Amino acid sequence: MTISEPDSAGSDPREAPSPSGGGGPAGVSRRGFTRLLSFAGLGAVVVAIWGYLRGWFSGPATPREVEVAGLGEIAVGESKIFQYPRSTDPCILIRPAADRYLAYSRFCTHLQCVVFYRPAQNGFECPCHHGFFSAADGSVLDGPPPRPLPRIRLEQRDGKLWAVGMESS
Ligand code: FES
Repeated sequence: MTISEPDSAGSDPREAPSPSGGGGPAGVSRRGFTRLLSFAGLGAVVVAIWGYLRGWFSGPATPREVEVAGLGEIAVGESKIFQYPRSTDPCILIRPAADRYLAYSRFCTHLQCVVFYRPAQNGFECPCHHGFFSAADGSVLDGPPPRPLPRIRLEQRDGKLWAVGMESS
């Protein structure tokens, strides 16, 4: 076996064909094989990013209906936590009067901290930057939030309350 020297023209010895001839069974050079791996890796990254962005932006095409509570399950002045429209989206149902139920997203419209119901002040407090929202309509009463809390549309059916959509302003 002999070891070849680079020729005087300066060709890259890594480009030399392997002893088996042509760099492999399919005749792909080492550089070509490296390029192929790079394109495959790039393709995998593009597919992963596409899948992530698609999930991020698409959301539910038609908000699904979710059972929130039975009628009378919470007393006047009380609240119940639920998730809508995804199982990771925190919401709150409140009952300000015997015949009145309201529901809101708990994500603060400033930087998405979770808000807390303060029935004594008839509102929702965001602990992050002291935002405060009205429990009557979700409007901003104090602090930096730029928009009201998104409201959850409710329907009464079969003795239960159902979340059937969201209203953002
Ligand atoms: S995140 Fe709620 S006030 Fe800033």
